[in-house]
Amino acid sequence: MVTGGGGFIGSHVADSLLAQGARVTVFDNFSTGRREFVPRDDRLRLVEADLLDQKKLDLEMRGVDFVFHMAANADIKDNLKEPRKCIDQNIVATQNVLEAMRAAGAREIAFASTGSVYGESAILPTPEDAPFPVQTSIYATSKVAAEGLLTSYALGFDFRAWIFRFVSLLGPRYTHGHVYDFWRKLRRDPSRLEVLGNGQQQKSYLHVGDCVAAMMTAIDKSRGAIQIYNLGHTDWLKVDDSVKIIVRAMDVSPQIVYTGGERGWVGDSPRILLDTTRITSLGWKPTKSIEESVVETLAFLEAHPAVERRD
Ligand SMILES: NC(=O)c1ccc[n+]([C@@H]2O[C@H](COP(=O)([O-])OP(=O)(O)OC[C@H]3O[C@@H](n4cnc5c(N)ncnc54)[C@H](O)[C@@H]3O)[C@@H](O)[C@H]2O)c1
Repeated sequence: MVTGGGGFIGSHVADSLLAQGARVTVFDNFSTGRREFVPRDDRLRLVEADLLDQKKLDLEMRGVDFVFHMAANADIKDNLKEPRKCIDQNIVATQNVLEAMRAAGAREIAFASTGSVYGESAILPTPEDAPFPVQTSIYATSKVAAEGLLTSYALGFDFRAWIFRFVSLLGPRYTHGHVYDFWRKLRRDPSRLEVLGNGQQQKSYLHVGDCVAAMMTAIDKSRGAIQIYNLGHTDWLKVDDSVKIIVRAMDVSPQIVYTGGERGWVGDSPRILLDTTRITSLGWKPTKSIEESVVETLAFLEAHPAVERRD
């Protein structure tokens, strides 16, 4: 089962599983996902439902042996607007998935966590065992709580859990994040671009295809009850440099206006670079540069203007 299989990352996971010959159940309520992202294949069953509906989830979990739990409220920037959303969608929903698995006898789960759990780490690149005593966003807090649920189910009920802490991902079917925000603003007004913060934030990004390949490598090659992996690039990119790539690719020359301050929003970590030694030691490495990934993301957005939200 792929929860969130109608979303950006989950739909690529579903593609990869089908390519490996698996039968796949996509469970998605399409709150942010899109029906056209779900692969069309006889071996895929689409369940349009909410993870908060435990009865439905219990029913659909029957016969499932492995869960990729990708569904979440993935919106880190606006999480303070509706704090409850992260708690319900990211913690309660995860508990529901684990309970449904327990009832159905499914015991293996891969989980989409985030590099944001490290907050503003003093250690860069940040390894998996770095301390994270202070949470800077409700989104990351909810992911830490969900990780805790996974690890305690692994120990308490003999589950095997793979926890993947992603940097920001890029690539086809991308519908949220800074490239989306800049693209959307420039489509509306190519003469002016508002940049949140001072443009000096520097972060690592990863292509979604590389991310899915890394997850599959870790699942194939690692044994043990609890496996935690950072997934990211060894490279990172300043927001200002990202703006340059985007402006060039869109062939516009806007006036750049900074909102100021080191952070783009409350809880934004100005520097994110994860230590990926653990996953690269299994033989995986990124195939695409960050610049290539930004350009490919823009090309996807330009070819699919319907993904633009109307809010
Ligand atoms: N995109 C990134 O850069 C990034 C970085 C780090 C972690 N993550 C995590 O990766 C996962 C996937 O993110 P994404 O970028 O694909 O986001 P997304 O919004 O594109 O996908 C999330 C999917 O989950 C579905 N969903 C949400 N709540 C649901 C519910 N209650 N019941 C059923 N379906 C529900 C949505 O409809 C959507 O299809 C999330 O857990 C996110 O927190 C993403």
